Amino acid sequence: MRRAVCPGSFDPVTNGHLDIVARASHLFDEVVVAVGVNKSKSRLFTPDERIDMLRTACEPFDNVTVDGFTGLLTDFCRDRGIRTIVKGLRAVSDFDYELQMAQMNASLAEVETVFVPTSPEYSFLASSLVKEVATFGGDVSGLLPAFVHDRLVRRLAERDPAGS
Ligand code: PNS
Repeated sequence: MRRAVCPGSFDPVTNGHLDIVARASHLFDEVVVAVGVNKSKSRLFTPDERIDMLRTACEPFDNVTVDGFTGLLTDFCRDRGIRTIVKGLRAVSDFDYELQMAQMNASLAEVETVFVPTSPEYSFLASSLVKEVATFGGDVSGLLPAFVHDRLVRRLAERDPAGS
């Protein structure tokens, strides 16, 4: 059984994330999407909210499950008996950091990281940019599942009702 984990912050999940998850689901028998905590980034949605949105977004994929983790990704992999991590690579600018994480993770546990090149139509897409553009009223509706877009717009309005 070939199993892989697709880790990320997913704050919130974008069509670019789902493209990587869909392609991983074709490459592996089972894929676990793992919502992690990266303390260096501030979050708009709680881990439970992000997991909830991902579960809905991943419903079309029969062999994909979603779970959260705190602590090290390698501990999550070890607990699940998973030895492959799948990460999307958007551009060369992603590579340095992703390579560093892949090598660190390989030094911590018996895990291999597989990089999947992001589809060109999503190469500019990042949750952080989506949030920034949406904060200033830009249209990001084509970049997220519709229900995620609705929740994003609602959350931003709750945080800043005056839109200031
Ligand atoms: O979506 P992101 O922010 O690129 O996701 C990063 C994430 C959550 C996958 C990464 O920060 C992570 O694995 N965090 C868990 C803590 C950990 O294992 N850190 C060491 C990484 S070498």
